[in-house]
Amino acid sequence: MRKINMVDLKGQYEKIKDEVDKAILNVIDSTAFINGPEVKNFQQDLEKYLGVKHVIPCANGTDALQVSMMALGLKPGDEVIAPSFTFVATTEVIALLGLTPVLVDVDPDTFNIDPKAIEKAITPKTKAIVPVHLFGQCADMDAIMEIASKHNLFVIEDTCQAIGADFIMKNGSKKKAGTIGHVGCTSFFPSKNLGCYGDGGAIFTNDDKLAEKLRIVVNHGMEVRYYHDSIGVNSRLDSIQAAILRIKLKHLDEYAAARNKAAAYYDKAFGNNPKLKIPGRFNKSNHVFHQYTLVTNGFDRNKLPEFLQEKGIPAMIYYPVPMHLQKAYLDPRYKAGDFPVTEMLASTVVSLPMHTELDEEQLKHITSSVLEFVNK
Ligand SMILES: Cc1ncc(COP(=O)(O)O)c(C=O)c1O
Repeated sequence: MRKINMVDLKGQYEKIKDEVDKAILNVIDSTAFINGPEVKNFQQDLEKYLGVKHVIPCANGTDALQVSMMALGLKPGDEVIAPSFTFVATTEVIALLGLTPVLVDVDPDTFNIDPKAIEKAITPKTKAIVPVHLFGQCADMDAIMEIASKHNLFVIEDTCQAIGADFIMKNGSKKKAGTIGHVGCTSFFPSKNLGCYGDGGAIFTNDDKLAEKLRIVVNHGMEVRYYHDSIGVNSRLDSIQAAILRIKLKHLDEYAAARNKAAAYYDKAFGNNPKLKIPGRFNKSNHVFHQYTLVTNGFDRNKLPEFLQEKGIPAMIYYPVPMHLQKAYLDPRYKAGDFPVTEMLASTVVSLPMHTELDEEQLKHITSSVLEFVNK
């Protein structure tokens, strides 16, 4: 059996090696390392794939979130609503900009931000909502856009884990994750569904004026060379990464299908086990399975990864500590017990290997090992 990894980047690379190697060498040969033609080409390919007017490439997903908040003109003291169960970057940039993170609980089935909790958290200082499409499935964007429009709030979609996912809007139209809110943010971190071979990110918007501002912010606040009318940052996607992403984008839907195939295998093995809850599916979004995450009960979840490790199977806890209980983000407004769903998930979830290269032999070994431990 091939070695089991959480993510098998080597196996995926081997299938596109010739094309990728050639693309990398072409960039080196051209020496157009920064803002070369491949960056523009990738931008256009991604705009077409997502059906969005503007893609602004940048250096990583964290920058995408920060740049979006800067371009939207959010000011210190403004409140930004975000889920308490997420990767730290979502909250980190809010805090870094001097904005106030307002955390809300999530849905126990989909792990995504709960729109009812959003509505309750709104105050006169609220300026934006950051739904995170966690683990590869969209948050309820219909409900979120409705709340945002009622209260005149910006919506910044954190699509770092769900690029390529579709959301079916109330009117029946299908939109790609990250293209529904005022702005969408993604990461091309190597393990992401569309990952490059280093760091990378992008911002999406259908708003021409906002796109202009985003382009200025990522480029040192500069519109005319060496004239800086606003404070910006330096956040660029390397040409080599763009060239790699152009190739991988062509495979993104096929990658999602491979991930879904592995998820279906897991579902079948675990679906009827009373100690395991398979990931809930939201009827308005498809799932692109960035992660396959089980909710466990009736056994010590922390012992499962140890047991699996001995059988050559990695497993991860995404995420063990809710945002309001992280030392860096402790805040007198929040205490343990405030977000019961998040806290339950943080102590019970476990994520299994999920990538495009899992084969039947590996899946069989993973599922039988999990069941061996759970049914002990
Ligand atoms: C939900 C979420 N938001 C933001 C990020 C930040 O992306 P990056 O690592 O590219 O900065 C990530 C990924 O790491 C993520 O999973």
